[in-house]
Amino acid sequence: MKLPYYINNEEIVFEAPEDTHFFYGEKVCLSQKFNDICKDCDWYDEGYTILDFTKYIDINLIKKLLRNIIIKIISEVSPKIDLSNFELNKYHKYIKNHSQHLEISKRAKRLYFTKDEFPDQKIIKFIENAIQKKLSFSPNNSDFVHWVIVRINPPYSKGFNPAHKDIYEEFDMNGFAPQMVNSWIPICGVNKKTGLPIAPKTHLLNEDLILRTRCGSTLEGQNYSVNCIKSWNGDSSMKLIYPKEGEMLLFSSHLIHGLGVNNNDDETRISLEFRLHENNNID
Ligand SMILES: [Fe+2]
Repeated sequence: MKLPYYINNEEIVFEAPEDTHFFYGEKVCLSQKFNDICKDCDWYDEGYTILDFTKYIDINLIKKLLRNIIIKIISEVSPKIDLSNFELNKYHKYIKNHSQHLEISKRAKRLYFTKDEFPDQKIIKFIENAIQKKLSFSPNNSDFVHWVIVRINPPYSKGFNPAHKDIYEEFDMNGFAPQMVNSWIPICGVNKKTGLPIAPKTHLLNEDLILRTRCGSTLEGQNYSVNCIKSWNGDSSMKLIYPKEGEMLLFSSHLIHGLGVNNNDDETRISLEFRLHENNNID
């Protein structure tokens, strides 16, 4: 079946299997019911903000460290590739084999930083300050550690997520929405035609207006761990967000986002993505 979306008013149609099961939820607003940790922020009506972090965190250091991390992953998956002049935005020139890309991309989407390796604690402090909550990769009183995603999208590749909400995974499994916030940081290849589409204000909609699948959806022949949302209040329009280098997109985990197609002709799009949980048990 065809799923039409409008990104910055331009129609883009995706294909989902005919037997995809879409359903509406109950007449309840989950961000209210589960006390969204961003609710006191001055940008909360829209559900997102863009923050400049250049004074606090060195984006060039982040890029250098991510380059090292990606080189290490590529070397593990494809040891024969010469990476001496490797540049992040030219990733697609080095990795042309689709199955190799899928394996590299899969590993880059499940990273755990160890101390001193990466300025992740600085980034966490910056976001804590922005939303005035104590944050961590782990929720309160839990051993669970949320991973960091480095999302690698070569030009015109599949592998972007469907339109989805991050809170549904936990909600569908355990009946509650985790108290977390999403951060999306462009690393390369992000510009006015390639960024992250979001649907402003959708974190405030009741679930009986949202037509969606459960987690584990298929779009354009690719399987995803996340849910797929077809429409919200009868609408399927999204706004493309493309923060500048040194800026991050911070948004409610209840906000609909996804479909970050890379429309660049010759530039790989790479983003760094965190989900941070409120945690009052940390120092
Ligand atoms: Fe997401």
